[in-house]
Amino acid sequence: MSIILGIESSCDETAAALVTSDREILAHKLAGQEEEHAPYGGVVPEIAARAHAEILTPLIEAALDEANMALDDVDAIAATAGPGLIGGVMVGLVTGKALAMAADKPLIAVNHLEGHALSPRLSNPELKFPYLLLLVSGGHCQILRVEGVNEYRRLATTIDDAAGEAFDKTAKILGLGYPGGPKVEKLAAEGDAEAVPLPRPLLGSKEPHFSFAGLKSAVVRAYDGGKYENADIAAAFQQAAVDCLKDRLEKSIREHEPVDHLVVAGGVAANSPIRAMLETLAAEHEMQFTAPPLWLCTDNAAMIAWAGAERFAAGLTDPLDIAARPRWPLDPNAEKVRGAGVKA
Ligand code: KG4
Ligand code: ZN
Repeated sequence: MSIILGIESSCDETAAALVTSDREILAHKLAGQEEEHAPYGGVVPEIAARAHAEILTPLIEAALDEANMALDDVDAIAATAGPGLIGGVMVGLVTGKALAMAADKPLIAVNHLEGHALSPRLSNPELKFPYLLLLVSGGHCQILRVEGVNEYRRLATTIDDAAGEAFDKTAKILGLGYPGGPKVEKLAAEGDAEAVPLPRPLLGSKEPHFSFAGLKSAVVRAYDGGKYENADIAAAFQQAAVDCLKDRLEKSIREHEPVDHLVVAGGVAANSPIRAMLETLAAEHEMQFTAPPLWLCTDNAAMIAWAGAERFAAGLTDPLDIAARPRWPLDPNAEKVRGAGVKA
């Protein structure tokens, strides 16, 4: 059994966690930055990097305290090394390197997306490779075939905005503030999705990819027209997003080798109607469905520690001079598509 310290700082959550290779979460600590970014309606990279630098070390100490451990008890240190906002990523990675050097422990540079992709295996010990993964976050919207640790095949991605980005922009248009996803979901519950006609970009398209930019523009037009209730716009937007995700996933399920398990990860996986759609879709295709608990869907360090544990078990550690990467695709062989997102 090994104990991994995980560090996450790629966007607007600073987090530290201690997780064992036996899936025991010994401690997980998280500090959000909602208040710092709220006046700007989105994450400001410079403010994020400073906030990470201030809070990360105390957070790591708090995690060790909670687990009643010292750095010496840890077997390896896993830090997010990208993709994400580079200032924040550097704060976490440099801290990880310093701790690894000081305590003479191996460093594991974790791809934030791999953290999300493997997180369902932390919550579900039964989940075996390969599985089909819908990775939906603020910066990414991808369908991946997860073949194993460090083995990912990207089947689809967004050609413009990510799903979470579309939720966040819709929230901004409707004046709901930041972060938008949960606020749109809450308002949508009071609205009528049929009341506002919105498009479903790329629905039924021959290419496998997603697109959300046109949907966002349609939300702007619906709002500016002044004809509709905000709750109805929120509900119609959410339904359109559900329909697009479902259509693209169905295409991937139809066109690739069957797998037993459909899995969702990333912040948008916290959305109940999306989870409900995925559960039904999995049942229709005689697949099992796994979604991590909500706290494990949005950014956290337990998923980074767990990805570290999986990599450590596979003998994958990194040199101390490894660089942070603002862009870092999980599947290096995936074809490039038009204007794919950069955030994590
Ligand atoms: O994975 P995550 O925490 O950070 C990134 O790596 O991007 O995902 C954050 C995204 C945000 O866009 C947020 O609005 C969205 O996940 N999100 C939701 C919900 N909760 C978070 N979107 C829709 N419904 C939700 N309940
Ligand atoms: Zn994320």
